[in-house]
Amino acid sequence: MVTRPAVMMVIALIICNLVIPAQTTILEQDAMVEILLAKVAELERNQQECSNYQNYVKEKLQQAERRISELEAIVYNTGSDEYTENLSATIESQPSDEPTNNTGTEVIKENNIGCPPDPKRMISRKPDIVKKERITTEHIGFYATFSTGLVSVHEHAIVLFDTVLQNDGNGFNKQTGTFTCPLSGTYLFSLSILANPGSPLHVYLMVNGQIIANSFAYGVNYSDQGSISSIVRCEAGQNVWIGVYRGTQLYGDHYTSFSGFFLWGDPTGSR
Ligand SMILES: *[C@@H]1O[C@H](CO)[C@@H](O)[C@H](O)[C@H]1NC(C)=O
Ligand SMILES: *[C@@H]1O[C@H](CO)[C@@H](O)[C@H](O)[C@H]1NC(C)=O
Ligand SMILES: *[C@@H]1O[C@H](CO)[C@@H](O)[C@H](O)[C@H]1NC(C)=O
Repeated sequence: MVTRPAVMMVIALIICNLVIPAQTTILEQDAMVEILLAKVAELERNQQECSNYQNYVKEKLQQAERRISELEAIVYNTGSDEYTENLSATIESQPSDEPTNNTGTEVIKENNIGCPPDPKRMISRKPDIVKKERITTEHIGFYATFSTGLVSVHEHAIVLFDTVLQNDGNGFNKQTGTFTCPLSGTYLFSLSILANPGSPLHVYLMVNGQIIANSFAYGVNYSDQGSISSIVRCEAGQNVWIGVYRGTQLYGDHYTSFSGFFLWGDPTGSR
């Protein structure tokens, strides 16, 4: 026969067994919440690190692109495939600038959440193969003149030179009498023009819609030679020509010529 106290003991034990696991669960949940909060904090930190890292990589990429532009400028001036390949090899084997402590190195070292570990590998890439046909700074220049002696011109019209002896970079268009700057930069333009006796000739150099220089030649009884020489800024795609302000004729046959060439461009990387 089971005694009453014994029954009570059993009941107490059962209650304890029911209650204690419930208490354990709450403690576990508290711990879980703690762990989750810590995880969230860690993820937030990691996200910040990733963002810092992205900025760092972006900056490095910009540096690399500037460097590539510089190297391209060097390569384009050589025009040699062999040199180009050697230069590519040099770039590949060259260590990039070591990151310093204030450019994100520490962030990357501590980073353990799967951001790429080696930013240098990210930015090292082969430069594009150099295309020989690309215009180089040393190969822009034209020389236009006339094959005949007496040439009729018209006021407010562009002088149409009928002979183009040099046109490196193909900037000069004989049909329109216009030179279109292939690259942005500083150019030199020259004009030498012969006015027939008794025939005043006033012409100008037009660059991108602006008169940059004038020439006036007028000999009463003799021919007269006018000239223009200008160093001027021209953006890629802008047009340059000789316009007639006043005059009806000029003398060609290599007494009159228009020439120009590229002097220098913008700092590398900006074009
Ligand atoms: C390119 O490299 C090869 C071998 O490394 C060398 O023989 C050649 O002279 C180099 N060419 C130029 C243009 O530097
Ligand atoms: C970068 O930081 C580390 C440790 O914080 C230090 O030992 C090292 O000298 C620092 N390097 C530079 C270039 O400041
Ligand atoms: C042009 O020639 C005529 C006739 O020879 C002469 O009378 C005149 O003075 C000359 N004019 C000038 C500006 O030389």
